[in-house]
Amino acid sequence: MYYSKIVGLGHYVPENIISNQYLETIMDTNDTWITERTGIKERRYFTYGKDTNASMATEAAKIAIERAGLTPQEIDFIVYATITPDYYFPGPGFVLQRNLGMQNIGVLDIRDQCSGFIYALSTADQFIRSGMYKNILVIGAEIQSTFLNHSTEGRGVAVIFGDGAGAAVVQATTDPSHRILSTHLHADGTYAEDLYVKDPGSSRPKRFYDDLFDDKNTGEVIMNGNMVFKHAVVRFPEVIKEALAQNSLSPEDIDLLVPHQANLRISEYVRQQMGLPEEKVMNNIQKYGNTTAASIPIALSEAWEMGKVKDGNLICLAAFGSGFTWGSALIRW
Ligand code: ACO
Repeated sequence: MYYSKIVGLGHYVPENIISNQYLETIMDTNDTWITERTGIKERRYFTYGKDTNASMATEAAKIAIERAGLTPQEIDFIVYATITPDYYFPGPGFVLQRNLGMQNIGVLDIRDQCSGFIYALSTADQFIRSGMYKNILVIGAEIQSTFLNHSTEGRGVAVIFGDGAGAAVVQATTDPSHRILSTHLHADGTYAEDLYVKDPGSSRPKRFYDDLFDDKNTGEVIMNGNMVFKHAVVRFPEVIKEALAQNSLSPEDIDLLVPHQANLRISEYVRQQMGLPEEKVMNNIQKYGNTTAASIPIALSEAWEMGKVKDGNLICLAAFGSGFTWGSALIRW
């Protein structure tokens, strides 16, 4: 019987730091508003000509694969979560595969927005437990800075998001004491348009037309912030409790909760709902903003580097995002 465990983590964030103070110079916003509403102090933006979604993922993957004690050629399959691929198609996983010389292995693209990494990890877990693959590279990566409206009109969304990439190597094991215990995936399409980017979609008679991106309701992120907040603070605790219940565990058993870095206020609310002390919740949104599918692997990788993820720890990953989607993963490290 096979189980899966995470044997290597890595992350890459672009070097270009965008502070709240810088945003004050290009739109009518201020550090106090951003900090109070989101907790974010700065975020990273990619450098055009240097970084792409796939190149950032490649850097994160190199670190994760090396920490796993493997070579890229020992990876059997790639599962890649993003909503901001280099190309409309094919997905960035193919470019990553080429970059690392991993020819002929399968590549699976996952969307699922802020829950993308949990969906990707769960998919890898199923492939490993079925015995089909031994070493799977799981990626979450985003370049979001290019579809934000950096004028005062777009400030409610633009200040929140950032760019970055994270990677995990998931490996088959027969040891039940160190493994992914369970994953839990949910969605409710009722709210699809409460957080979405409409174009370039295929729901029009013609996908590309001259004034496509002059209309603010097409290529930009449209977010009903209050609706997102209301659902996130219910779904996060719900899906964490679901994972704990399935494994006959309680909140006090959690050593570290790594939530999707949506908004510090949401994380704080979830922490209080779960009765967890501050040191048991990983937050790095202050430095990177919300990096959608990349946020959990970046936070998990950083937590591991900080020594917050130790052998035998119970680690809980949880996400909520556009779709709406939500999910969790419980890991005995
Ligand atoms: N700087 C200064 N003022 C701003 C900014 C800004 N960046 N953005 C909006 N404002 C103003 C608005 O124009 C408005 O002004 P008005 O009262 O004069 O009309 C005022 O601030 C309040 O605007 P709201 O949109 O009502 O702001 P709210 O307090 O709801 O906060 C926020 C917005 C932070 C998005 C909030 O709704 C929230 O936390 N929502 C959760 C959604 C979230 O976190 N999304 C993250 C990504 S999604 C995900 O990962 C799941």
